Order: sequence, then C-alpha cells, then structure tokens
Amino acid sequence: MTWSPNSWRGKSALQLPNYADPAALDGVIDDLSARPALVFAGEARRLKRQLSDVAAGNAFLLQGGDCAESFKEFSTEGVRDMFRVILQMAVVLTFAASKPVVKVGRIAGQFTKPRSADTETIGDMTLPSYRGDSVNGMEFTAQDREPDPQRLLRCYDQSASTLNLLRAFASGGYADLHNVHQWTQDFVQGSPAAERYAETATRISESLAFMKACGVNRDSAPALESVDFFTSHEALHLPFEQALTRRDPNTGQWYATSAHMVWIGERTRQLDGAHIEFAKGLSNPIGVKCGPTITPDELLRLIDALNPENEAGRLVLISRMGANNVREKLPALARAVTQGGRRVVWSSDPMHGNTVKTESGYKTREFEKVLSELEGFMDVLYSEGAYPGGVHFEMTGSDVTECVGGANAVTEADLSSRYHTHCDPRLNADQALDMAFRIAEALKRVRSNNSVNAA
Ligand code: PEP
Ligand code: CO
Repeated sequence: MTWSPNSWRGKSALQLPNYADPAALDGVIDDLSARPALVFAGEARRLKRQLSDVAAGNAFLLQGGDCAESFKEFSTEGVRDMFRVILQMAVVLTFAASKPVVKVGRIAGQFTKPRSADTETIGDMTLPSYRGDSVNGMEFTAQDREPDPQRLLRCYDQSASTLNLLRAFASGGYADLHNVHQWTQDFVQGSPAAERYAETATRISESLAFMKACGVNRDSAPALESVDFFTSHEALHLPFEQALTRRDPNTGQWYATSAHMVWIGERTRQLDGAHIEFAKGLSNPIGVKCGPTITPDELLRLIDALNPENEAGRLVLISRMGANNVREKLPALARAVTQGGRRVVWSSDPMHGNTVKTESGYKTREFEKVLSELEGFMDVLYSEGAYPGGVHFEMTGSDVTECVGGANAVTEADLSSRYHTHCDPRLNADQALDMAFRIAEALKRVRSNNSVNAA
C-alpha cells in the first residue's frame, strides 16, 4: 500500500471522536484543506537539523507547554508568559549543558486529548468524555460534550494567532538574552531558593558581561536577540492533521503543516494502527511516547517503521515511565537502541508517569517525583552509553496551583485556589524555572559521576 495523507483510514484508529454528522466533518476538512499552511517545510527541516545535533550529543531539547490548550485560557499574555518561561529555562539549561538548547513549545495546536474512557458518568448521567477543545466542551452537559467539527476551525484560527505572536516575540527583540536573564535574576532574588540558585545565575551574568566586553553585541551576534522557537502537538485528531498535510513543492515530500514537530501518544502508538501509519509518511520530526509497557523489540520495530533511513533528527523517543519505573524499564530499551545503532533523540517526559489523585479529587504531580524521574533518566542513559538529550514538560507561564512542591512550595491545600488546567496538572512558571535550576544541578552531578566511572 502506498502512503497518502488519508491512508490511515485503512487502519484501526483509536481515540477519535464519533461525530453525529460525518458530512459536517467532511465539510470542515475541505475548508481546512484550502487554508494556508501554519508552518512551512523549510522550518520543519531546520528543526530536524537541530534535532540531529541533539541526537549526536551536541545540543539539548527543551519541549514544553500546556497539557491542553483551550479557547478560554487563550490570551496574548498567556502566550507571552509561556514563551518567556521557556526561554528562561533554555538559558539556564544552555549554561548548564554548555550546549545549544532547541526550543519546542507544546503550543499552537495542542488541542486534542486521548482519554482512558470514551464516556464519563456522574450520578445517573453518562456523557462522552471531554477530548479537548478541538472536539467538545468541558462542561458536563449533553450539549457541551457533543463532538462538534466546527471547533476545528477555531483551533486553526487560534493556532494561527498564537504562531503570529510567537514569531513576533522570537524575532522582535522580546527574546533578547539580556532581558531574559534579567527576568531570571529577578526570579532568583524573590525565590526561597535564592541562595541555591545564585551561583548559576551569577555565573550566567558574568558570562554575559564577559561577552559584552569582548564586543559581542546585538549587531555582531543577532542570536543574542532572536531565537528559533518551534511548535509541536500530539497528532491525535487525524482528520484535522490530514487536512493540513501538504506536499512541499521544493522536495516533493509530505509535511504536517499544523506544527513543526508532532508526536504520537502512548495510547495510539500501535505499530499497525492509524496514527503510526499517518506519521510514517510525514517528513517532519516525529516524537513517540514510550511508557513502561513497551518492550525493546516493539520499540525497535516502531523506530524502523517511523525512521527506516535511520535519519538523525527524525525521531524523538519520549520516555514517560514514572519515577518508580524508569530505572527498571529504561535500561533494556536504551541498550537495544544503542546496540542496534538507531539514531534517535532520547527525551524524558517526567510528567505523565507521575500523576496522582489527591483525597480531595485533584489530579496532581509532585515536583520531587518529576525531578526524580529526570535523574533516573539521565543516570540510565549515561550508564548505557547513550545521551539524555531532552526534557518534555507540561507547564505554563502563569501562577497556577496544579502541581505540588517547588521552592515556593505549593501544598495540597493550595490546589483549589488556582487550578485551571483543561486536562493534566502543569508546572507553574516558578516551578518550571525551579526545575531548570535543579536539572542544571543534576546534569553537573550526573556528568561528574560519569566521568569518574569512565576514568
Ligand atoms: C500528553 O502528552 O499530554 C499525553 C497524553 O501523554 P501520553 O501519551 O504520554 O500519555
Ligand atoms: Co497531559
């Protein structure tokens, strides 16, 4: 069978909504198919080149953003604050890793969610589960929960507006490295962990001052005030993705133009399923979530299906084992990939294996558990002779109370005060930046342990 943007229709597709009026969906798909691409093939190739540097151990990937974007939470300030905290984290990580950091948002298209059950029951009422704003509404009413294809048009529009803002922020001076670092210094001064973070922050300040003294400024180094910022989301809603899949006139290759990178989630990565079939024919960088049930053999087969040419930068394996599993499950996978000579980026999503429910019913994640999975990930990969190349967070630039812990400790009792997520709990801006400083410490420790072991 030859691949085409709709060849996934011949396979079993999990997690797609049931639309009452399939003709209405077709109408929306036709409309979307005629709209401009949101991102361009050349940009996706640029990301792939940067990810090939990550695969080779010469750069680091930072991917982060909302679990689910929503219509309600959309604002200029929200996009700006998310962008800002990702840049702040990237500066800390660049310094800690002494490597360029490739910045990819879970943004401008992250609207569809896989669910563990098709329906939700409250009292004696059973309704379709909320599947993200691209599909239905979150209110527990029959009207809101009915899948509505018109929502896809609003997702397209919101993604276009978000991208427009991101492109402006990335190149219009907002991303100036000195600004970004000044914000981080303000954060450090106000943080209960000020002493702990001060050394790293001061060393970054000194490096910037040194560069300035050497004559490195905005004119001589445009990289100081503009950044590459890429977008990504889970390629879950295949009709939507199909409508935005376009053939690049320059190369003849097919690209998802809904985002620079898309990933396949833990629940839809079946080798013979529709989502993998769809991803196979795209030329974008592709992520695959790898949870604790995947076997080394299955992983190798997935890698070969998605990256038959063994192209570096094409595939990002996003490990999401849970802090309690990572040291047990990841070694055999890493060994199989390394021994098999497969060129991949290994990234860690320390969020999705560490979700718990509090007694009062909030889904939350503990900061220290998240960090502990990251440390396990780094230890395992280094000791298997592989490179822990990236991290993947659910986070926001605003001051929500969804995850517990961090330097400004959010407690379980605080969760109800600003719990806004449309799906999973996100790190707030302070927790995200705390995390970057803690990863910086962990990188240093893991690397020095490793050079001791290697000596
Ligand atoms: C997600 O990234 O929001 C998600 C649903 O993850 P996973 O597929 O790993 O469960
Ligand atoms: Co999530």
